[in-house]
Amino acid sequence: RSDATTDYYELTQREADAQILPGLRTRVWGYDGRFPGPTIRARAGRRTVVRVTNALGAPTVTHLHGGHTPPESDGYPTDLVGPGTHRDYAFPLDQRASTLWYHDHRMDYTGQQVWRGLAGFFLVGDEEEAALPLPSGERDVPLMICDRSFAADGSMPYPASPEGPGAREAFMGGVLGDVILVNGAPWPSLGVDRARYRFRLLNASNARVYELALAPAGRLVRVGGDGGLLAAPRSADRVRLAPGERADVIVDFAAHRVGEHVELRNLLGEGPQARVMRFTVERDARDDSAIPAALSRVEALDPARAAVTRDFEFSSGSMNGHNGWLINGKPFDARRVDARPKLGQVEIWRLTSDVAHPVHLHLSPFQVLSVGGERTAGPPEWKDTVELREAQTVEIVTRFTGYRGRYVMHCHNLEHEDMAMMSTFEVV
Ligand code: C2O
Ligand code: CU
Ligand code: CU
Repeated sequence: RSDATTDYYELTQREADAQILPGLRTRVWGYDGRFPGPTIRARAGRRTVVRVTNALGAPTVTHLHGGHTPPESDGYPTDLVGPGTHRDYAFPLDQRASTLWYHDHRMDYTGQQVWRGLAGFFLVGDEEEAALPLPSGERDVPLMICDRSFAADGSMPYPASPEGPGAREAFMGGVLGDVILVNGAPWPSLGVDRARYRFRLLNASNARVYELALAPAGRLVRVGGDGGLLAAPRSADRVRLAPGERADVIVDFAAHRVGEHVELRNLLGEGPQARVMRFTVERDARDDSAIPAALSRVEALDPARAAVTRDFEFSSGSMNGHNGWLINGKPFDARRVDARPKLGQVEIWRLTSDVAHPVHLHLSPFQVLSVGGERTAGPPEWKDTVELREAQTVEIVTRFTGYRGRYVMHCHNLEHEDMAMMSTFEVV
């Protein structure tokens, strides 16, 4: 439904049986009973209101990951929507075209509720992007990649529930599945034309990191990331994605013959965890798409303008009887604010890890300044999630715009997040 100013969507969170493994039924929690949830295609600058009705037996919170969203609609982890109730999330979408996703964000239960299926794509388009000759329509394909494990009856039990005594501690590293799913299907196959395709890759896994590559060979031309289009395309033989990260890549199947098979593989996995999906080149076809040498103008945030530098240390530990993951020595506490950036202010945030942590900021897209002391090369890129590798410092620069209020920064390893590796900042 739409009116002069707003597009409206309604999603109902409910349990449903999905057909994921051959001959078996899998109970999922889905937006509209689907896993992944319906893909919402929205327009930048156009107010979009999503009414989420909770028909599950547990509270939920929905967050638009990558959204530049006022605090009351950002899905703060304690803004619960109880069973049998609903909430309208309003997104002004005052932001660039980008591949976003929505997912559950309930405090202590995000890992479990996303695992059960509460996640979907939210694609923001704009005129700048629409004017480019990139592959579109049927050849613009969002691919949600996540791993799950199944019991013999087809169910998808979550092993690290906070209720299971001690169970959570057994999953300090995060929950990994042994089957890789793409858009909810194991090892799917897509028939393609001999033409360029745009694949919007999303790592929606709780904890698994991927390095995606084509086999036997092929180039992935990256045109976008978390925060939309890059300034210029970058051709690579692999793309690394930590949980929460996205990459927009172009693959040209004209490099292959009709009848050939091309695989998308995970170089960090072995056996079944190396297999992601496959393409079958089915026919010759006309292709009017192109990859322009210049994609977008990407402003470089100047670190010299930063008013403040803040340090955040991501580590494990125990604090007041809490065993888990900490930021600056503290577990998440919704009553505490850890940083108060000023609206409009540029800041440098210095993030330091013990083991690997994909760190995600709500509200405020950032640019990576340095990784392990090395200045980032190449043109600037907007991101909302950055992977800290083991014992590493990553410096980011960001500018807090749009809204005052409370938001979170957290590790996007969802078990780390649920084990309290999250911190509130308030834009003042
Ligand atoms: Cu994708 Cu705070 O989350
Ligand atoms: Cu987010
Ligand atoms: Cu982490």
